Amino acid sequence: MICRNKLLNNMFFILLIFIVSCSKKDPSKVTITWAVGKDATGAQNKLVDAFLAQNRNINVRVIEMPGSASSQRDSYVTYLAAKDPFIDVYSIDIIWPAEFAASGWILELDKLFSAKEQDKFLPGPIEGCKYKGKIYAVPWFTDAGMLYYRKDLLEKAKLAPPETWTELIKQAGMCQRKYKINGFVFQAQQYEGLVCNFLEYLWSYGGEVLDSNNKPQLNTPPAKQALKTLYDIIHTYKITPEGVLTYQEEESRQVFTSGQAAFLRNWPYAWALGQDETVSKVTGLIGIAPLPGKTKGQGASCLGGWNLAISRFSKHPKEAWKFVEFMTSPEVQMIYAVKGGRLPTRKSIYQDKDILDFAPHYRDFYKVFVNARPRPRTPLYSQISDILQIELHKALTNQQSIDDALENSNRKINTLLKISQQSFEK
Ligand code: GLC
Repeated sequence: MICRNKLLNNMFFILLIFIVSCSKKDPSKVTITWAVGKDATGAQNKLVDAFLAQNRNINVRVIEMPGSASSQRDSYVTYLAAKDPFIDVYSIDIIWPAEFAASGWILELDKLFSAKEQDKFLPGPIEGCKYKGKIYAVPWFTDAGMLYYRKDLLEKAKLAPPETWTELIKQAGMCQRKYKINGFVFQAQQYEGLVCNFLEYLWSYGGEVLDSNNKPQLNTPPAKQALKTLYDIIHTYKITPEGVLTYQEEESRQVFTSGQAAFLRNWPYAWALGQDETVSKVTGLIGIAPLPGKTKGQGASCLGGWNLAISRFSKHPKEAWKFVEFMTSPEVQMIYAVKGGRLPTRKSIYQDKDILDFAPHYRDFYKVFVNARPRPRTPLYSQISDILQIELHKALTNQQSIDDALENSNRKINTLLKISQQSFEK
């Protein structure tokens, strides 16, 4: 198996040749500003440097946004609603293209990003970047919820990774008692990540947020079972640390990679950090599996991912497009996959031998990645999610019952949908 450093060196070398052969020498520099979430992987700056080396006439100012997707959206909305031209390229969550396009905040890219080119990308992220048949962003990396587990601990107990929530609860409880570490960590702070986690339970119990007529379905038995399972994991079986209700991705990842938890629900980026000896105490001990379900084979993974969109108010859309094209190129996606553990959005990369040697789970879980389920695609998604974040978190922090949380969510989402006449993307 090719070693990770050698693979990286090779890839940087290829990129360098590409850069040298494409360099331009234009004395007048244009500065574009890229807004992007806090980088947990340490790879983003290297990608920007590579772009700068290739594009001598463009300067890139990187504005680091908060790590939480919800706070990031709030900052973006402040710029965009004010038609502020300061930010040229926005990295946007897969749940925002509909809202940003409907608000007239981002450029339609059909002329630059042809159907033929779109076809080289995974279908889920492409669909997520479309609104009313037009494309508004280029998929940068994709995400799907996964279960990470301590291979060494399960092997000692002769256990296969859990396929149901009941098995997970048992195995996590056993590891917690035996090894005095936390059983299971995930994201339960009041923010978008909590909704992603909840949806994975909801879908695995056969529930939905909205039915095919866009009627909320949260006061249903599957939704109650889903929230009860999540509640019981925290309060009844007590297999999580108390702090889990304040955890986002990085807090939960750090507990796991420091060897303090047996199971972790997270996105694929956690894999690369788990293999990195400078941040992980469990290199070589991590297994990865699809998320459990109510019964075997019924697990569901939430589709996440980030995309690059150009502000409608940008004064430099041409340079912004160059940047977007570069950041989503096959070369950059390869590097970002190995260096940052980010799941590529280009189909071809999943066949690359070096990438598969570095991340063998790409081969095994390609189907999971491709079948990850999207959150409702509507310009109203952020408002629906805000309701869920508040109501679910109140139930999980014992401020209201599970039934009340779901009744309230259903009623509030129903009212929201009734008063807004917005159309939905199917
Ligand atoms: C990840 C996903 C994104 C999701 C967020 C929630 O960044 O890619 O889609 O909304 O996590 O925290």
